[in-house]
Amino acid sequence: MANVVIIVPILAFAFSLLFSSSLVASATGGRDEGYGIFGRTLDLNKLLGSKKEKLSHFRLYWHDVVGGKNPTSIPVVMPTNGSQTFFGMVNMMDNALTLSPNLTSKLVGRAQGLHAMTSQHQLGALMAMNFVFMEGKYNGSTITLLGHNSIFDAVREIPVVGGSGLFRFARGYAQLRTHTFDTRTGDVIVEYNVYVLHY
Ligand SMILES: *[C@@H]1O[C@H](CO)[C@@H](O)[C@H](O)[C@H]1NC(C)=O
Ligand SMILES: *[C@@H]1O[C@H](CO)[C@@H](O)[C@H](O)[C@H]1NC(C)=O
Ligand SMILES: *[C@@H]1O[C@H](CO)[C@@H](O)[C@H](O)[C@H]1NC(C)=O
Repeated sequence: MANVVIIVPILAFAFSLLFSSSLVASATGGRDEGYGIFGRTLDLNKLLGSKKEKLSHFRLYWHDVVGGKNPTSIPVVMPTNGSQTFFGMVNMMDNALTLSPNLTSKLVGRAQGLHAMTSQHQLGALMAMNFVFMEGKYNGSTITLLGHNSIFDAVREIPVVGGSGLFRFARGYAQLRTHTFDTRTGDVIVEYNVYVLHY
């Protein structure tokens, strides 16, 4: 009987220690309840294993097909009235990315996203697109490009702002050179040289 009198308060004290943090946590809004902690610091080497950062180069041809029966780049917003620079025009695209300038050459991915005319005084576009790769080990991986495109400059540059799959933590840039501009159909073929750091 004497033992019980001693043990019960000790157990109660031990339990109160075990649960005190969660009791305090629930009283202070749920911290430590398992789903309350949303951020922590990780060791990059533990996350990536033996992978080292590397630089990859891709040369691809981007086909902005606006004319014909099977366009892949379609205006979804028309320019503001009377704009000579097509200001306001937005195209949604699912453009082929091929190995050579010929559209029938090997398809290695698609450029999915939009380009929007964002300059009132020159021909300038905002490019916002994902290169969705479909070939070899890159199949299913993506890189994301976002930036300004002065479409009549000989060489333009767009930042690579991220990626997925093999391109996690990607950063880099793409250089664009117009290969062909068909004034009759409006179709454009652009050579993309993409330089991307990734793991
Ligand atoms: C566009 O401009 C033309 C010529 O100035 C005018 O006739 C027309 O009403 C305008 N359209 C709109 C939608 O503002
Ligand atoms: C593209 O390739 C196809 C098939 O090889 C060929 O018939 C066509 O002439 C080529 N087009 C150009 C512009 O080289
Ligand atoms: C790419 O992956 C998709 C889905 O996993 C698969 O259906 C397709 O055959 C793959 N393509 C190539 C060229 O490996």
